Amino acid sequence: MMIESAPAPKKAMIDNEISAQAYARIVELSRKHTGIVLTASKAPMVKSRLTRRLRALGMSSFDSYMNFLEEENDPVEMSKFISALTTNVTNFFRESHHFDHIANGVYDHICAKLARGQRVRIWSAGCSNGQEPYSIAMTLLGRDMTLAEKDIRILATDIDPQVLAFAQTGAYTDTQTVGISRDLLRVFFDRETTGDREIFTIKPQVRNMVTFRQLNLHNDWPMAGTFDLIMCRNVMIYFDDQTQARLLRKFAAKLADGGWLMIGHSERLPDDTLSIFTNVGVTTYQRKAQA
Ligand SMILES: C[S@@+](CC[C@H](N)C(=O)[O-])C[C@H]1O[C@@H](n2cnc3c(N)ncnc32)[C@H](O)[C@@H]1O
Repeated sequence: MMIESAPAPKKAMIDNEISAQAYARIVELSRKHTGIVLTASKAPMVKSRLTRRLRALGMSSFDSYMNFLEEENDPVEMSKFISALTTNVTNFFRESHHFDHIANGVYDHICAKLARGQRVRIWSAGCSNGQEPYSIAMTLLGRDMTLAEKDIRILATDIDPQVLAFAQTGAYTDTQTVGISRDLLRVFFDRETTGDREIFTIKPQVRNMVTFRQLNLHNDWPMAGTFDLIMCRNVMIYFDDQTQARLLRKFAAKLADGGWLMIGHSERLPDDTLSIFTNVGVTTYQRKAQA
């Protein structure tokens, strides 16, 4: 019996221009689903990233792609649209002053809580490829290896399933390990050489402290209880002022009294949140006790 192979998808000629109308639809869909504000200056970046989606789907124009996204309600393509629009730049121990703060004040607070038999919960919101939550875990273990067996969990969330899948492997190339001292690399990573590439894989005691979950910060947050530390760095910068203010109020509600909030270097807390937070370091805030 002859089995006919499926015809190869026709390669569509892509109309390489985004019309003002199609761009406005992309901007609106991005704002609605992710909160990410796309200005006119982002158009070349958006065009280049979404052209790959058009090609994969055999579509010839951005208008047809937007019709598909708006009408088909296809969660897989929506997720790919979101992945294409997110910026995932990150590094181990990025903005190192936060990790100095964790190694000192936060660590002392954690030890006191554990000594009282209480649990410790940390949230890396917008964790990208995992370097941020793993850096938190390594900082704490760097102070005391036995913390790996204590009731400390680091929740690491992101909207983008592609970065989460990568983060869960815990495997990084040597260029991705920039920022980690040789000592930490030796203690916390297994090193493997394949061909001319070196891969550094996070050791289980670090990895086991971190749980990765997909979470869109604009949807409901299903986590019960409060956190002792929330890092949300270089994420809110992509949102408008109103969205940032709403998120900050939600973070405040999710922080235990005295819990820390760490934000990115170009992010600011609006003045009206200073009744909730005390500034205790560079882009580092502590939640005031609630009356
Ligand atoms: C520039 S990275 C920052 C990574 C890390 N926090 C750091 O500072 O190195 C921004 C991350 O925020 C995520 N993000 C963007 N919009 C989001 C949303 N609405 N909900 C959750 N994560 C989002 C992106 O997918 C991306 O991984």
